[in-house]
Amino acid sequence: MTLLVAVNGAGDNWAPEKWLARFSARLPDMPVVLFGRDQPDPATVKYVAAWQPPPGTLAAYPNLQAIFNLGAGVDALLRDATLPNVPLVRVVNPDLTQRMTEYVVLHVLMHHRQQRLMDRSQAARQWTTPDQWAAANLRVGIMGMGELGQDAATVLSRIGFQVAGWSRSLKSVPGVPCYAGADELDTFLVRTDVLVVLLPSTTETAGILNRALFSKLAKDGPLGAPVLINAGRGLLQVEADIISCLDDGTLGAATLDVFNQEPLAVDHPLWSHPKVTVTPHNAADSDPEAISDYVVGQIRRHQRGLPLQNIVARDRGY
Ligand code: NDP
Ligand code: OXD
Repeated sequence: MTLLVAVNGAGDNWAPEKWLARFSARLPDMPVVLFGRDQPDPATVKYVAAWQPPPGTLAAYPNLQAIFNLGAGVDALLRDATLPNVPLVRVVNPDLTQRMTEYVVLHVLMHHRQQRLMDRSQAARQWTTPDQWAAANLRVGIMGMGELGQDAATVLSRIGFQVAGWSRSLKSVPGVPCYAGADELDTFLVRTDVLVVLLPSTTETAGILNRALFSKLAKDGPLGAPVLINAGRGLLQVEADIISCLDDGTLGAATLDVFNQEPLAVDHPLWSHPKVTVTPHNAADSDPEAISDYVVGQIRRHQRGLPLQNIVARDRGY
């Protein structure tokens, strides 16, 4: 019974050898091997801890019993048509959720408090004092009211923003009016000054952030034009539409953590657009130790015959 580590992550913390060490330390009773370096008997591999392995990688293991995705979004794994049909578990943990909420709060506040204007004023040594409205005057709308969206909504609401949420199925979050499904999308958009996107990338959500949708956002908010914050996935957004909507004033500004292609190409116009804040897909760059604890906790549950948690519904794609 072996755990295979198949990780294709960016950054030192995500080096495959570091994941191997984390899992080996936590599972002294189980062989832990590294894809691409070790040659385990494929029949002995029962579990996989995976992050964006090359398509086809996991099909080689006939006795897999579960796949543990080392992040919340499973779109990269589900794009692999040969992915074995065993339970696919995603990360849901407080560390990841809190980091995403930090990011959302940071960027909502940045737009709300006109921080980019303050930065420009400082660079020009100008004592600029624009009018500032209260949080209660700004309407934030969160697309995707799952683990991440609901937490961000709750914290933003406590700060005083008028927060609403939209998801596939109707949610009940204290103090946060919720909308659901295609029928209620326009009602949600028309009351939204700052659109925060925490949707998964699926066939249904591909390209949902486009000109037609941006055109429905509120036009009478204190920012002068609506703002987009996308920390969900890059394939949700039509980047040419974001740029043209920023240029013609349909959108006032955007914060983007995710892109059609990552890393964002050095010559991509989003890097230098004056109304865009780019971050390198690190909105919820979560603690690998916390993720390792979570995955090992799930493996131990499975070994004890308990149900795995946070299994992805493959038919929905998230
Ligand atoms: P969840 O699965 O808990 O929530 C997803 C939400 O999106 C749910 O509310 C779901 O509705 C809603 N949704 C999905 N499809 C549709 C649709 N077609 N129409 C309307 N609503 C829809 O996921 P998490 O909150 O944990 O994570 C969300 C996403 O955030 C991840 O999939 C990932 O892409 C991204 N992410 C980005 C990170 C970053 O660093 N930038 C880090 C971590 C995650 P319902 O509740 O009804 O099912
Ligand atoms: C995730 C991510 O899905 O970091 O966890 O993008």
